[in-house]
Amino acid sequence: MNDQQQLLIVSNRGPLRFSVSSDGEVTAKRGGGGLVTALSALTATRPVTWVASALSDDDAAVAERGAYRDGNLTLRLVQHDREEYDRYYNVFANPTLWFVHHYLWSLALEPSVDRNVRLAWEAGYVPVNERFAEAAAEELAEAGPRPLVMVHDYQLFMVPGSLRARVPDAVIHHFTHIPWPQPDYWRVLPVDVRTAIHESMLACDVVGLHTPRYARSFLQCCERFVPNAQVDVRGGEAEFQGRRIRARAYPISVNPDEFERLAAEPAVVDAEPKVLEARPEKLILRVDRTDPSKNVVRGFSAFDLFLSDHPEWAGRVTMLALLDPSRPEIPEYAEYVGAIQRAARAVNDRYYTGDWMPIDLRISDNFPEAVAAYKHYDVLLVNAIFDGMNLIAKEAPLINERDGVLILSENTGAHVELGRYALTVNPFDIQATADAIHEALVMPEQERHQRIEAIRRQVREHDIDRWIRDQLDDLAEVDGVEAPEALR
Ligand code: G6P
Repeated sequence: MNDQQQLLIVSNRGPLRFSVSSDGEVTAKRGGGGLVTALSALTATRPVTWVASALSDDDAAVAERGAYRDGNLTLRLVQHDREEYDRYYNVFANPTLWFVHHYLWSLALEPSVDRNVRLAWEAGYVPVNERFAEAAAEELAEAGPRPLVMVHDYQLFMVPGSLRARVPDAVIHHFTHIPWPQPDYWRVLPVDVRTAIHESMLACDVVGLHTPRYARSFLQCCERFVPNAQVDVRGGEAEFQGRRIRARAYPISVNPDEFERLAAEPAVVDAEPKVLEARPEKLILRVDRTDPSKNVVRGFSAFDLFLSDHPEWAGRVTMLALLDPSRPEIPEYAEYVGAIQRAARAVNDRYYTGDWMPIDLRISDNFPEAVAAYKHYDVLLVNAIFDGMNLIAKEAPLINERDGVLILSENTGAHVELGRYALTVNPFDIQATADAIHEALVMPEQERHQRIEAIRRQVREHDIDRWIRDQLDDLAEVDGVEAPEALR
């Protein structure tokens, strides 16, 4: 990547959310999440154009006025037809694709690829992706040679193919933030759909995933589903239509300094008493979106087992579950919230003593409270069924003040880097999870300290800047030019 090369980012959720007052005044709020923070670092050093969905009426009102500019950032919001977007987001991307990527379908009964799913693909996912590619191509109309385009996540698998057809000389990169399932599980989707997705992804120059296992899965899928592709799984490459595609692992990370700064912010400090109120002697914490992949219900069952195996802990430890409501329009997600509430109530009914509530369940979008809880847990439970990375496992230990122990699912991307410093659990094995909770609570102080320090070292040495730099270096290899000095 050189300084003349235009850089374009494409993602469903953008870096800013807008509100427009009744007299037309526009206020922009930075969107949350690691991705936005990570990529925003790029805007510090060079102009970046970002193409994202207009997600609210206020976003749409801003989109009507043309591109929004703020320093180095030009934000182009794509407006969608409401019904088309609903099919794309609420039916095809979630739950269909999301459930495939996280192995969440109970295949004996679901999914049925019926008219609704077909329609969601043909009259939802495909046209919305087309619209993104069209907007990206328009933004590149004035670009010099070899513009660099970074496309993000499973909502936009069809963008690379469509964009390659429109801008043949673009350097196209796609990063998938969730696992890449093995070929047999992709067979849940009809042949034409899975072939189209993999062919489109092979229009990229570089395909980024969080772990080497996901990168191998991606290439194995290409081998099975795209007959004309020559795939070298061990070499991490494929050839398709005369072009070379690299599939590489880039484990995403966080900005450690940012978390240290956040830990001292007034909103976080103000939230601390409400967290401390939940802790009798010890606190077990989980922080998640209310997503079925996060395995909240089995986490509660494991805590239940632990309490019945170890009655000596009754009244001395609470599980605080801070859950951010997610994708409420999707029936599977709404039902999951119900299952979470029922499971928490069952445990609480069983053990409640009048002055001790074993599970403190809080379902709300409250980031400062989550950061406050990061400081005060004794055990952090991350028992996801499958999870692309899981940034909670990386960010919370950075600012924890009690040498808290991490219990980590072997099926998270984070496990590749942090597994040896955590207590590993199989997310389906609730007895093993209950045992891990006990082991964490009685672990000697010195061992806890060594483990958390090792996690911090790993995260500091593999921070978010490195995630970006490694990708830019590989993209520079595609292009034969160096990554900019400012990011080295
Ligand atoms: C995951 C996905 C992201 C997505 C985020 C929030 O982290 O990988 O692409 O933006 O969840 O989900 P939402 O559907 O609210 O954008």
